[in-house]
Order: sequence, then structure tokens, then C-alpha cells
Amino acid sequence: MNIASHWTRKDLIGIEDLSADELEIIFNTVESFKKTLSRSVKKLPLLQGKTVVNLFMEPSTRTRIAFEMAAKNLSAEVLTISGDASSLSKGETLRDTALNIQALAADALVIRHSSAGSPLYLSKVVDIPVINAGDGAHEHPTQALLDAFTLRERFGKDLTGLRVTILGDILFSRVARSNIWALTKLGASVTLAGPSTLVPPNFESAFGVRVCHNLRDALADADAVMLLRIQHERQTATHFPSLGEYTSSFGLNKLRVSWLKTDAIIMHPGPINRGVELDSEIADSARSVILQQVTNGIAVRMAVLYLCSGFADFTRFGKQPQAIEEL
Ligand code: CP
Repeated sequence: MNIASHWTRKDLIGIEDLSADELEIIFNTVESFKKTLSRSVKKLPLLQGKTVVNLFMEPSTRTRIAFEMAAKNLSAEVLTISGDASSLSKGETLRDTALNIQALAADALVIRHSSAGSPLYLSKVVDIPVINAGDGAHEHPTQALLDAFTLRERFGKDLTGLRVTILGDILFSRVARSNIWALTKLGASVTLAGPSTLVPPNFESAFGVRVCHNLRDALADADAVMLLRIQHERQTATHFPSLGEYTSSFGLNKLRVSWLKTDAIIMHPGPINRGVELDSEIADSARSVILQQVTNGIAVRMAVLYLCSGFADFTRFGKQPQAIEEL
């Protein structure tokens, strides 16, 4: 089957818009690409002759490098520019920057920006695919996709009834929002835990999740715990007395891990702050799948670039994307 012929989006802006069927198309594509990553020669000719531009207006290690590696694995040229190295720092608008990137013959634009809504806005300005690599506290769709894919690898493809606890700074987290969308669409049960100032009570009714301020209860029945960093860069007020007090109340340590089921896994989107949201020995323990998540990020970004570029080529040139299985 040519998976890409069933995909009908040029952009990936968020998980909120996606149907469960679309998530399935992405996961099937990720599976195919993940297999190619263990080949001695990883390069596939699927985006040969294309150029992907990564415009990163916020710092990034994992997402930026994974998008670069994904584009290179698909044989695309890839250019990465940071905000302070672009003419945005000289007063150019984001719109003009994107139009100029398109005029310079880029075939896809990956953007990380501190303003929620920037990728959606640009997707309406340019004809080339726009991929959201994280926009403010709104969404980080490829992170949620790699998280869900990691859960599927561990617990099987059907996540119905799986219990996932997201612990930490939910209020300012785009990772939390994208994961809540993805996990609930896939049938998992989501519990949110953390300081009451950082876990909005209205998320229960807005997203159909459980909010639980008793950490022991939030951990006891979880199949997976997803830890979040305190996102100081987006906080405009003090939400708890000190980092030390956050750690003593909510940090994942040996005692709190003992409250988990024996087969529960520990996840984190990174960057991790060792000794704050989790102890170092927990981050490096056998329960931790943090680095597996990072590796899955390459295949996820390959899938997203392939699907969105394939659809853009189809609408612009009537060209059917090549099936991965043919390679
Ligand atoms: N998880 C994540 O987005 O990490 P980076 O900020 O390093 O890309």
C-alpha cells in the first residue's frame, strides 16, 4: 500500500486536528522508517532534490537534530537557521522571512517559535509544507507522536485503556497538550499531576482527563509516567516557593518509584533537569525509556516530512509519492 496516497495534509500544525486514522497512517509510516534505521546504509532517495529549512527561534537539541537527521536520511538538503542569525533580529517580520525562504526555493519549512499559532499562521502564508517543531505552550506534535510510538512499542499497538500520568508543569507545556490530544484520541486514560498552580483544573472538562494532586494515587495505577521540566522560560510569575520545594513535593525519587507498578515505564521529552523533576539514578534506570524516545524522534520526523512533502508534491505536480516498501 502506498501510505502517503492516503495522507491529505501539506502541514503538521498540531495533534488536535488529527483523526485517529491519520495518527495510524503516521505510525505505520514511522514503523517502516524505523526498520530502515537499522540498515547499514540508512539513506533513502524519497526527498532527493528537495531542501528542508529548519527555522528555530528557540533553543533545541533533540528536535532540531532529529529533523536534520530525518531530512538527510531522506536525501534532502537541510539548512538550519536560528532566530538570532536570521534577519528577524533586524526587524523583518516572520511572514516576510517565511516568504523569502519559499522564494529561495525551499520545499518544506520546520519552525519552532515561542509564539503559539506561528506555524498555523505561516501555513496559510506559504504553499510549501510547514511543520510545527513546538509553538509556545500550544503544541509540539512530533514529540507527542514519538511518545505515543514509544508507548506502542512497549505496550502494543492498541493503547486503549493504557494509563499515562503526566507529572509536572502542565500549564506551560506544549508537550503535555499534544500528548493529551494524542493519548485521548488513541483511547488511553490520562492523569495530570503536579502543583495545583501548574495543573489547570479546567483541563478535566476541556480534555476529558483526570487531575490528581495526590502524587501516590497519580503514580499507583500508571503504566507510564511522563515527566515534564519546569518551563521557566514561559512562566511569568512564581508558581511554587522554590525548585527545592518542587523537588521535595513532586520530584521522582526512589521512594516514589516504589509506588509504581513493577512494569511501569518512565518517560521524559527532555531536556531533563537531573535532581529536579527526577533523580539521576531514575533517569538512568532500566525503567527509563528517555533515550528510546529520542531515537524514535528520527523515524517520526522522517514520516512527517515524507507524508507532508508527498501530499504537497501531489497537489502541486500531480506526482504520487514513491512507496517506502519499494525501496
Ligand atoms: N523535547 C524537545 O523538544 O527537546 P529540544 O528542546 O531539545 O528539542
